[in-house]
Amino acid sequence: MTTVDTVVHAIAFACPTGTSRTYELRPADPTTPLPAFEAGAHVDVHLGPTLIRQYSLLNSPQDSDRYLICVRRDDGGRGGSAAMHQDITVGQRLRVSTPRNLFPLLPAKRYVLVAGGIGITPLLSMADELAARGVDFTLHHYASAAAEAPLLERIRNSAFTDRVHPHRSDEGDSIRTALPAELSSPDPSALVYICGPDGFMRHVTDTATAAGWQPGQLHIERFTPAAREPDPATDGEFRVRVASTGDSYPVPAETTIAEVLATHGVEVELSCEQGMCGACLTPVLAGEPDHRDEVQTDEERAANTQITICCSRSRSAELVLGL
Ligand code: FES
Repeated sequence: MTTVDTVVHAIAFACPTGTSRTYELRPADPTTPLPAFEAGAHVDVHLGPTLIRQYSLLNSPQDSDRYLICVRRDDGGRGGSAAMHQDITVGQRLRVSTPRNLFPLLPAKRYVLVAGGIGITPLLSMADELAARGVDFTLHHYASAAAEAPLLERIRNSAFTDRVHPHRSDEGDSIRTALPAELSSPDPSALVYICGPDGFMRHVTDTATAAGWQPGQLHIERFTPAAREPDPATDGEFRVRVASTGDSYPVPAETTIAEVLATHGVEVELSCEQGMCGACLTPVLAGEPDHRDEVQTDEERAANTQITICCSRSRSAELVLGL
């Protein structure tokens, strides 16, 4: 994975309670611009040798001199957000991956952007991009209360502030009581981009689908993997073969392909280790994967040419990997 050295240029509260903070990252070498990014992209932030977290870029893709991320502290989480809030200070160097986009803006005449809480981050970058292109869009931002709503100042100072519709649960305006009216009837010329907690995204997609929106019009980005039921057909042992050496190894239940390969000295690239980032996508030369990632499209999964080795398994007795 290609990485870039940055310096933390500024840290600021992103909401009055301080539970969300923005981090402005600039190139460590000011003479070298940061790699370009598209709206919807994220970077992997390297917080430690085994602590790597993905954060969406929320600034305009036109910015070549900075990456802006926002982190909501979650003390019940896996430690990434707590480390960002506790350990990262202004002036500190921070290694990040080059931006990767698993949530790209596809062509459409109109867009409806629907954010739950901190899920607004990639949608702000999209809003900047759409406003710059002169494309029609609206942005709905749901939050429990105004004091908890992140990035209000960023919205107020944007070129698209009049297109943003705030919704606050403590004012009786939650996603369960008030889905955006424009989602109540499908518009074939529009695409809908949704980002927020799992239950929020499920509710929006279920309700919009029931109203007649087509699955291809609804795009979501997850922060955490979807819950899955145990599958006795694929939870058990299978074998994995490394094409370049011919070596074949068993992958026991409860063990990932990546862990087995690493144990045998095969170099693997990992980041989120949850099927969320795509860093570990590996070519499949033979066999049928049991895809358990949130990264690939339905078409890519059906093609069975790549597998996320951090979490996916096998439907066939053996997988041959292009390593
Ligand atoms: S390491 Fe992120 S998808 Fe596998």
